[in-house]
Amino acid sequence: MRRRLTKRVDGELRKTKGSLAGAGLMVWGISVGLALMSMQAPALVTGHLEAVTPRDVAYELVEKLGYTQSGPCAVIPVKKEGNRVLYGRFFRAECQGTKLFLKFHDKPVAQAFLPAISLLESSPLLSASILQPIAEFSFRREGRDPDTQWYCSAYPWVPGDTLRDVLNKMHQPEQEAEYLTGIYRQLGRLLGEMGGAGLVDADKPLEEMQSRLIHSDVHVDNLKITPDNRVVILDIDSFTGLEKPLPVQKGFFEGFLQLIVWAGDHDFFADTPRSSAWLRVLPAFAEALLTSYCQTLVGKDKATACVSQIAEMAAGQVLISHNHSRRYLPEVEPVVSNEEMKRRVDMVFGPLR
Ligand SMILES: Nc1ncnc2c1ncn2[C@@H]1O[C@H](COP(=O)(O)OP(=O)(O)OP(=O)(O)O)[C@@H](O)[C@H]1O
Ligand SMILES: [Mg+2]
Repeated sequence: MRRRLTKRVDGELRKTKGSLAGAGLMVWGISVGLALMSMQAPALVTGHLEAVTPRDVAYELVEKLGYTQSGPCAVIPVKKEGNRVLYGRFFRAECQGTKLFLKFHDKPVAQAFLPAISLLESSPLLSASILQPIAEFSFRREGRDPDTQWYCSAYPWVPGDTLRDVLNKMHQPEQEAEYLTGIYRQLGRLLGEMGGAGLVDADKPLEEMQSRLIHSDVHVDNLKITPDNRVVILDIDSFTGLEKPLPVQKGFFEGFLQLIVWAGDHDFFADTPRSSAWLRVLPAFAEALLTSYCQTLVGKDKATACVSQIAEMAAGQVLISHNHSRRYLPEVEPVVSNEEMKRRVDMVFGPLR
């Protein structure tokens, strides 16, 4: 397996201004080429920046990576993605045909992700479908504790809509059902392959399986659907099992509920025209996501048991949440009766149990 390196660039670059153009051009060439070809960067470039405000930090970072060699970059705060308002931690850099996503953090999240990169290399699907960082630089933030380091990390910009925006644009879900079922099937395969790539002991029963490659925050805002209909997993700081493996089934189960039951916000509990339309397509989405996940993770022979185990858990959890909503949030969210909820749960999870 090819080993990935973490490369520091700032020391040498600051000492020898003369070699900056050459080094910068090389890094720029590699990065632009790779950002265009796929989502992978050759190595995680790290270093320290002198700037102290987010916009200056973002600019200094793209400059250090060599992206300004062939012309200026526009560094633009990302305040809104689809309908979602984002608060001040994100920038988009537009540099002569290449776009980057820049994210600020109080921890070195991209460096913490390095162990995942060697796991991703075993699978072309994972390498192409999980966002990978290009660089992460530390800096001191203006107005904050001078002893605390902040970090700015750079990623290839992933074009397309988040799954939330794709679903929200769907006014007549049945007309889009085939397309969306395909997206959910692709996603199931991706999550199955992900859990499998980090497995600690594949011979254990499903409920005891543990994996290092678990994204603990799989939901509609952390997935992008590219214009060529590929699913890309974002938010790499949510890969939490890298140091210590986590239960595979629990990781998937939470994502499954987020993607199926809560994906239409609270439509599953509501009595509205939208919830009825949503319900007509959900059984196919649930089947596609869960079946392809189980088939990929445990193989076709054992998939039926895996599907029914997770569907059973999901049905139970949804009924508990519904009871909770009726009891504690009656005026906030008008929810359907217990009988109706049982009908909905049977409709979506019944055929899978
Ligand atoms: N590489 C990328 N290219 C384009 N857009 C992106 C990229 N990464 C994230 N986004 C957009 O920015 C939004 C926020 O990004 P992200 O999910 O990484 O942050 P977050 O959920 O707010 O952060 P955290 O979970 O670390 O608090 C995403 O929902 C998506 O719309
Ligand atoms: Mg997110």
